[in-house]
Amino acid sequence: MSPVSRTHGAAAKPAIARRSSNLSGTARIPGDKSISHRSFMFGGLASGETRITGLLEGEDVINTGKAMQAMGAKIRKEGDVWIIQGTGNGALLAPEAPLDFGNAGTGCRLTMGLVGVYDFDSTFIGDASLTKRPMGRVLDPLRQMGVQVKAEAGDRLPVTLHGPLTPAPITYRVPMASAQVKSAVLLAGLNTPGITTVIEPVMTRDHTEKMLQGFGADLTVETDADGVRTIRLAGRGKLTGQTIDVPGDPSSTAFPLVAALLVPGSDITIVNVLMNPTRTGLILTLQDMGADIEVLNPRNAGGEDVADLRVRHSELKGVTVPEDRAPSMIDEYPVLAVAAAFAKGETVMNGLEELRVKESDRLSAVANGLKLNGVDCDEGESSLLVRGRPDGKGLGNAAGEAVATHLDHRIAMSFLIMGLASEHPVTVDDATMIATSFPEFMDLMTRLGAKIEIKDGASA
Ligand code: S3P
Repeated sequence: MSPVSRTHGAAAKPAIARRSSNLSGTARIPGDKSISHRSFMFGGLASGETRITGLLEGEDVINTGKAMQAMGAKIRKEGDVWIIQGTGNGALLAPEAPLDFGNAGTGCRLTMGLVGVYDFDSTFIGDASLTKRPMGRVLDPLRQMGVQVKAEAGDRLPVTLHGPLTPAPITYRVPMASAQVKSAVLLAGLNTPGITTVIEPVMTRDHTEKMLQGFGADLTVETDADGVRTIRLAGRGKLTGQTIDVPGDPSSTAFPLVAALLVPGSDITIVNVLMNPTRTGLILTLQDMGADIEVLNPRNAGGEDVADLRVRHSELKGVTVPEDRAPSMIDEYPVLAVAAAFAKGETVMNGLEELRVKESDRLSAVANGLKLNGVDCDEGESSLLVRGRPDGKGLGNAAGEAVATHLDHRIAMSFLIMGLASEHPVTVDDATMIATSFPEFMDLMTRLGAKIEIKDGASA
């Protein structure tokens, strides 16, 4: 695997976005990040060969690939295809050096489950953002399974795990809406004898369940009348390599999609977008706001719903976003808040407590960025209210003051989208970390006609 330039330690590069017109053309969004992480993990663990096309080659996913290599998986790329020879379930090797996950909560937390139950040491490190994020939500169930945890106070990275000779299967009710926590427990269950059970009161993205079933795991899901899901996994079974075509990431799609809605005269098509219902909350919300989003050519590919989206400039109106929709659009609130800044009336978002523990405290990062750029908004403990200004008049920051991105790719991209429809430009203090999830963002947006660039003075 080619070497990765690290987000942490890289010099910050400010970027600026200016009012644009008539975005047009067709965009193909890179592969879904959640599915790409899991493709490397499950392919690296399964017996035999896994072939992956459409993989997201962002820094986060490449770090997961490197971790799997460090634990014995053989990974190479031939043309457009990533080819993995897995170790076989239960046969990961002890990593000789700390596993560095950079900016990626998903890579780190899922791998903690995957290897933490093995009877050897594994050490986890990350960048300044990941080092601040809570790991207790994954370490607590692992402790119940018999894993020894050596961690800084407050269960932050660096963390060293050492599993017992025989891990204990548990029944775990996930205390917050988190696919990462659900997945970490299930992955720990892969190397645990007996049945590991995860109870999920609120459904989150289901890629782990679907993909593990595809790799041959004995995994069942039962949903009761209240929507509570019980997931049971029989441990120590065989996983067999698969062929995977990763669909386009709906969370990355959100940026050109909102851009086209906001920029007058726009008409774009985004092809091959994952439409799994656990991921489409933003599209529903924008449609509630009056967005013209046409779902074209809906189809099923590799067990996932996929479609193309035609998006045209639309007059948006404010809405109250149903709170129970939050898990299906959790990564999209920053860019929704930007859309709300241009909507007629107020947009109210509740149930946002998980936003405080993402790559940054996204609730305060969004509210501060909006205020810096002239938007009237109220930040609550777990809510955000945005009063929109449909023509973008007065929005942006003529003095060039930059939004603080706090090493958060989605904050950087969201505010660059804001600048495309604001009266004044919008500047972000750093755009380098966009490469963690969407390395093609700048090129793709400029090809559609967006005026976005790395700021003068910063070397490209
Ligand atoms: C992810 C789960 C979500 C999401 C993240 C990807 C996953 O995190 O925010 O970007 O791939 O499982 P949480 O589990 O913390 O909600």
